[in-house]
Amino acid sequence: MQERILTGIKPTGLAHIGNYFGAIKPAIELSHNDNYNCLYFIANYHALTTIKTKEDMENYSYNIACTWLACGLDPNKVIFYKQSDVPEIFEFNWILCNLTPKGLMNRAHAYKACVEKNELNNIDRDIGVNMGLYNYPILMASDILLFDTNLVPVGNDQMQHVEIARDIAIAFNDRYGKTLVLPQGVTQKETSTLVGLDGRKMSKSYGNTIQLFSDEKTLQKTINKIVTDSRLPNEPKDTDNAICKLYKLFANESDYQNFEQQLLKGLGWGEAKKQLFIVANEYIKPMREKYDYYIMHKDEVNNILKQGAEKAREIASVNLAKIKKLIGVL
Ligand code: ADP
Ligand code: TRP
Repeated sequence: MQERILTGIKPTGLAHIGNYFGAIKPAIELSHNDNYNCLYFIANYHALTTIKTKEDMENYSYNIACTWLACGLDPNKVIFYKQSDVPEIFEFNWILCNLTPKGLMNRAHAYKACVEKNELNNIDRDIGVNMGLYNYPILMASDILLFDTNLVPVGNDQMQHVEIARDIAIAFNDRYGKTLVLPQGVTQKETSTLVGLDGRKMSKSYGNTIQLFSDEKTLQKTINKIVTDSRLPNEPKDTDNAICKLYKLFANESDYQNFEQQLLKGLGWGEAKKQLFIVANEYIKPMREKYDYYIMHKDEVNNILKQGAEKAREIASVNLAKIKKLIGVL
């Protein structure tokens, strides 16, 4: 029997290459495996914790949809939808709220980080915390559990949420009998943390990203901003640096070995960045062309999402009806 894989992507900004190698590419590769039945969605209601305007919500949701399609998501193989188009998720969310101990939410990392920051600043611990942030993991549990999900590919930061979903499923099964599938989070080892321009984790929150689909000139300019040490051309370079790590992702093994050798022999950082731009651009170019196509074909993209939502609702409505019967409301 096929295993079900499900993951959501929050539309909180434009995709960067950390998102691509850490989340998008591995998820698309999984979808090519016939042993898996995949559901990937735009978690726009989760993005409400940070996105505050109609324009940002619409634009980022659309851009993220175009990004997935450009990176090779095949809507005939993957059920691809916008979370807000599947109302069953939100009905189920309320049921799950009643099986979730408050203490479990107190321990969720995003909420905890907010409270700890307030305490450090000697201000009321709840400042800046709304119930969307507090209940965030329950909505995520709803996304996952409504679809009998077996595996959830996520970054390390999301593993705790998958475990919370599992705990909630156990609580449901204890009360109503074995119904919900217990999900398991899966992370990528090699690319779980891609470094950004300054050597820290590439992240929108650090402003150190390389956007996946900027134009060529911007890509080159961004690569030029990667921080290096002050070794001069002709001085041998250390190869444990952001440039080498990035180059390795875009190039094949023998080109990478060659690049490393050149650096050890003293290739200048300026020249190294040029070479990194060339391999990165070559890799990204065909996807960028597709991205530009989808950006210009809004109806086509919206149609794909609509059809995806219909397929998702077929599963969600059957499962929700089963659950409603079990709890005695249907
Ligand atoms: P950001 O940290 O830029 O806000 P998100 O939290 O929106 O990124 O992450 C979306 C997906 O991309 C998640 O699965 C996350 O684990 C993955 N991801 C984000 N940054 C990186 C990175 N630097 N390396 C690998 N994966 C990443
Ligand atoms: N919370 C996830 C993130 O920030 C996005 C998400 C929402 C998700 N619902 C999900 C991921 C369900 C996996 C499964 O990246």
